[in-house]
Amino acid sequence: MRRERLVVGLDVGTTKVCCLVANSMEGLLEVIGMGMSPSRGLEKGVVVDIGRTIQSIKKAVEEAENMADMRVDNVLVGIAGKHIRSLNNTATVSITRQDRIITQEDVRRVVEAAQTISYPPDMELIHVIPRQYVVDGQEGITDPVGMTGTRLEVDVHLVLGSVTAVHNLVRCVETLGVRIGQIVLEPLASSMAVLSSAERELGVVLLDMGGGTTDISVFRGGDIWFSKVIPIAGEHITNDITVGLQTPIEEAERIKKEYGTCLVDAVGEEETVDVATIGGDGTRAVKRKKLAKIIEPRVEEILDLAMQEVEDAGYRDLVPAGIVLTGGTALLDGMAEFAQQRYDLPVRRGRIPQGIHGLRDIVESPIYATGIGLLKYAVEGRDFARRKAHAHFSSRGRSGGMFGKLMGWFRKFLRG
Ligand SMILES: Nc1ncnc2c1ncn2[C@@H]1O[C@H](COP(=O)(O)OP(=O)(O)OP(=O)(O)O)[C@@H](O)[C@H]1O
Ligand SMILES: [Mg+2]
Repeated sequence: MRRERLVVGLDVGTTKVCCLVANSMEGLLEVIGMGMSPSRGLEKGVVVDIGRTIQSIKKAVEEAENMADMRVDNVLVGIAGKHIRSLNNTATVSITRQDRIITQEDVRRVVEAAQTISYPPDMELIHVIPRQYVVDGQEGITDPVGMTGTRLEVDVHLVLGSVTAVHNLVRCVETLGVRIGQIVLEPLASSMAVLSSAERELGVVLLDMGGGTTDISVFRGGDIWFSKVIPIAGEHITNDITVGLQTPIEEAERIKKEYGTCLVDAVGEEETVDVATIGGDGTRAVKRKKLAKIIEPRVEEILDLAMQEVEDAGYRDLVPAGIVLTGGTALLDGMAEFAQQRYDLPVRRGRIPQGIHGLRDIVESPIYATGIGLLKYAVEGRDFARRKAHAHFSSRGRSGGMFGKLMGWFRKFLRG
């Protein structure tokens, strides 16, 4: 029997909110709806204005609902921001029963034990990702249930985020009557969309260069080892152009996309670009080399900061598959060549892999990598991440009581 199910990914980015709806069938995803709206309430990946963020999400979700002709009531939502911390931990439990056969309960116990780390009260666990299990010294086990042993160990990757940042994001989504199936770290989602299993296995750095944040993650042996979010990306390049060429921000953004490059040497002396002046009363010709000279140092700074994080974490020499670039800023002309020369590593722009259909433009642009990745995560990510559901948020307002009724009314009002 063919089994179909609907999955929805919500990427609340700094520059845009994107909602994707897909049909998932036998491992294949077909995108059947999308909605996108400019993001208004975020700074550097974090919600700073709840009202405006709700409006942006509402518009994207409604558009996606209309296109897919269905009601969105459960989503996977991405999270980023420099509050994110990640670390690796291990734990061990003994199997003392007579038969020594490892059960689901033993797995739950050991994963639970691996989460007992001390962290500040203003942080909470977003992901607990079991990377491998070790049974009586035998490594590399992905599912130990049914095996025999006396000692069960687990290696986990833990991701923590600020309680406030998580809470604000959850509130924005749930105010609209949409439940959150899971919160997923954005770089983890993007990785599902753009990395091949060979790259994941060999060792690779994934850089998702968006508008407000650059998300860094390192994969090895098929799993995530490191993740970090730095608060600098495409918007900073645009700001520099605004100042350097004294032009309005929208014009700086347009020029960056159409004529921008980070390879100063590749630009001819005679090339010029018409740039609108502030006040909008005319244009003037600016050398394209001047534009490139503004962009190049910023790109260098962003990439250096990201690669320094990789170096500090000890992975610089453990990524033979090099660097994969995604996110809107990865579209900047010359980006891959620039990174390749600077770090002497193979660099490629991420493509969306096999198994995704529908809405061609969407599935191929790096701008949608996080959204597509969330869809893939919904289908494939089950045993890869374990996150306690946000029970305290999800049930609130959906249950009875005065508060619930009020929230129900408020949602109806918001959604019209
Ligand atoms: N062709 C292009 N050349 C250069 N930059 C581009 C191009 N297209 C998009 N960008 C830049 O990409 C950025 C938006 O990327 P993206 O949609 O991945 O960000 P986001 O997900 O909204 O933000 P974040 O992930 O940082 O929260 C903007 O800064 C935009 O200027
Ligand atoms: Mg993004």
